[in-house]
Amino acid sequence: MTDAFRDAARRVVAIDGPSGSGKSTIALGVAEALGLQMLDTGAMYRAVTCAVLRAHADPTDEELVTTIAQAVRLDVTRGVTTLDGEDVSGAIRGPEVTANVSEVSVHPGVRTELVAKQRTWVAHHGGGVVEGRDIGSVVFPDARVKVFLTASDEERARRRQRDEAAASRTVAVEAVQAAMARRDAADSTRAVSPLRAADNAMIVDTTGRIPEDIVAEIVQAFRRVEGSN
Ligand code: DC
Repeated sequence: MTDAFRDAARRVVAIDGPSGSGKSTIALGVAEALGLQMLDTGAMYRAVTCAVLRAHADPTDEELVTTIAQAVRLDVTRGVTTLDGEDVSGAIRGPEVTANVSEVSVHPGVRTELVAKQRTWVAHHGGGVVEGRDIGSVVFPDARVKVFLTASDEERARRRQRDEAAASRTVAVEAVQAAMARRDAADSTRAVSPLRAADNAMIVDTTGRIPEDIVAEIVQAFRRVEGSN
C-alpha cells in the first residue's frame, strides 16, 4: 500500500447500517459538510444484480455472477449509477433488483471485486464518505470515523415505504417490513462480511431524530480525530 493510498483510506467516514436506517441522507449531509465525495456501495451491489438479471443468470451461480461482476463497468457518482455506460439509477431501486441483491452480494468473488473498486475509488478521490454494510469492519478498517446507524423496525419500514411512494410504487408498510426483515437476516448471517458494527464504531439510533443533528455529531467526531492526528 502506498502512503497516498493509506492517507486516503484514513480520510474516510464509514457509514454502515441496515436499509432504512438513514445512511444515504446522513452520508450526503456529512459529505457536503466536510467537502468530501460520497460513495453508495449498495448501489454497486444493486448494479451488479441488475447486470445478472439482464443476463438471465442464476443469482446463486457464484462463478457466473462473479464473472459478471468482474466484467461490468460501474460508475456511482452523485446519485447517478451507470452500468456499462447506461444510467440504471432507477432500475437498481426496482423490486426485481431489491429481491435478488442479497443473493448476489453473498458471493465472496463479487465482494472481492467490489471491495477492490471501492478502495480504488477512495484512493482516486483522496478519501470520502462511504456508506454500506461492511465499510468500517472490512473495507476501510482504518477509517477516521466509523458510524453504525440503527432505527426502529417501524421507522425503517415507514422510510422505505416513503421511498417506494416517491418512485410511484404503492406497497403496504407490513409488506415492506417483512421484505426488510428477510434482507436483514440474509445480510447479517452471511459468512463473508456480514452486516455488523465495527468494534470502534459510533452507534447512532436515528429514530425520531432530525438528520441535521446526526450530521453535526459525525462532523464533530471527524474534526476531533483530525485535530488529534
Ligand atoms: O444499501 P442498499 O439497501 O442499497 O444495499 C443493497 C444490498 O446490497 C443490501 O441488501 C446488501 C448489499 N450490500 C452489501 O452487501 N455490502 C455493502 N457494503 C452494501 C450493500
